[in-house]
Amino acid sequence: MAYLHRAIIDTIPSYKQGKPAPKTPGLTAYKISSNENPYEPLASVKQAIVDKAVGRMNRYPDMRGTAVVERLADQFGVKPENVVLGCGSTEVITQLVNLVAGPGDEVVYPWRSFEAYPIIVANAGATSVKVPNRPDGSHDIDAMIAAVNERTRLIIVNNPNNPTSTSLSDADARKLMAAVPKDVLVLFDEAYIQFNTAADTNVAMDLFREYPNIVVAQTFSKAYGLAGLRIGYGIAPADVIDGMRKVAIPFGVTEIAQTAALASMDAYDELDERVKALVAERARVVAALRAQGWEFPEPYANFFWLPIGERTDEAAEHFVKAALSVRVFSGEGIRISIGEHEANDRVISVCADLKRLGF
Ligand SMILES: Cc1ncc(COP(=O)(O)O)c(C=O)c1O
Repeated sequence: MAYLHRAIIDTIPSYKQGKPAPKTPGLTAYKISSNENPYEPLASVKQAIVDKAVGRMNRYPDMRGTAVVERLADQFGVKPENVVLGCGSTEVITQLVNLVAGPGDEVVYPWRSFEAYPIIVANAGATSVKVPNRPDGSHDIDAMIAAVNERTRLIIVNNPNNPTSTSLSDADARKLMAAVPKDVLVLFDEAYIQFNTAADTNVAMDLFREYPNIVVAQTFSKAYGLAGLRIGYGIAPADVIDGMRKVAIPFGVTEIAQTAALASMDAYDELDERVKALVAERARVVAALRAQGWEFPEPYANFFWLPIGERTDEAAEHFVKAALSVRVFSGEGIRISIGEHEANDRVISVCADLKRLGF
C-alpha cells in the first residue's frame, strides 16, 4: 500500500536481530549471535519479580524509576538528577540523539560499531559521519577528532566496541576529550564494560568528573543478564538528563524491569562471579583459536571478532551446520558471543575445521 510517510525512513536499514539457533538433528543448538548472557536469570531476581512486580501489572510503573535511579546514583557517586533510565541502553542512546541532533546536524561515530547507531541517527533526521576503525578494529581517535566540525552535535565511542571487541585506551579517550569543544556532547557507550579487562582501558565515569560534556550509557542486558526485560541507564549532567527525559518513551521501563534491576544490584557479587567465568571462557577460546593460527583483535567484551573478509559467508555456513547461530557481516567477518561451555567447545571445533579448509 502506498501511504504518506517521512522519505527518510526509506533510507534506513532495518535492525537485524541475531538469528535464533539453527535446528540440526542430533545437536543442541546454541544462539551466540546477540552477545547475550548464557546464564539463566538468578533465582533471587525471579523471586523479586514475582513478589514485588507481577501483582502490580495493572498499574503504570514509576515513570522515573526513582528507586533504581537513586541506587545507581549512589553506586556511581553522582546525584539522582544525573541518572536516566531507558528501555535498554538502546533507548538511552536514542534519547540522547533525539535531544541533540536533527536535520543538518552530524553525529560522529566509529565504524564498524553498534548497528543501531546509523538507524537512530537517521531516524532523528541527522547525518551519520562514520569513521573507519584502525586495521586492528580499534577506534581511530585522530580521524574521529578530524571529523568534528561546526555541524557536529554528538560523538559516540563504544568501549569495548561491538563487533570488534576492542578496548578504548584511557590515553585515546583523554586525547578525544581534550580536542572536542566543551559544548559538544561525547557519549561513552559502555554496554559491555564489565567484561573489559584491558589494563589501560578508559573508565568513562572517571572522565565524567573532569569534563562537562560526557554522557555514559550502560545496561542491565549483558553482564546482568536482563536483556529480555529492557532496562539500561544514562549518566549525564543534570540539564542533559532533563532534556533526555523529555524525549524518553513515557512509562517505557516496566516495573518488572525496575524490580529485576534492583534485585540484580543486590546480587552483585553473584553476577560478578558469572562475569569472571565468562571472561575465563573467553580466554580459553582465544587461546585455542590462537593455537590454531587465527589472528583477530584481542577481545575485551563477551564476544570476539573474526575478520574473515571475502569468504565470510562461506565460513558462516560451517557454523550453521554445527547448530550455532553467529552474527555474520558479509564480506567482513563474524562476531561470536562467548556462550555456554559446550557452545564454546563447538566454536573451537568449527574454527579448527575452517583452518583445515584454508581460512
Ligand atoms: C554497543 C552496544 N550498545 C548498546 C547496546 C544496547 O543494549 P540494550 O538496549 O539491551 O541495553 C548493545 C546491544 O547489543 C550494544 O552492542
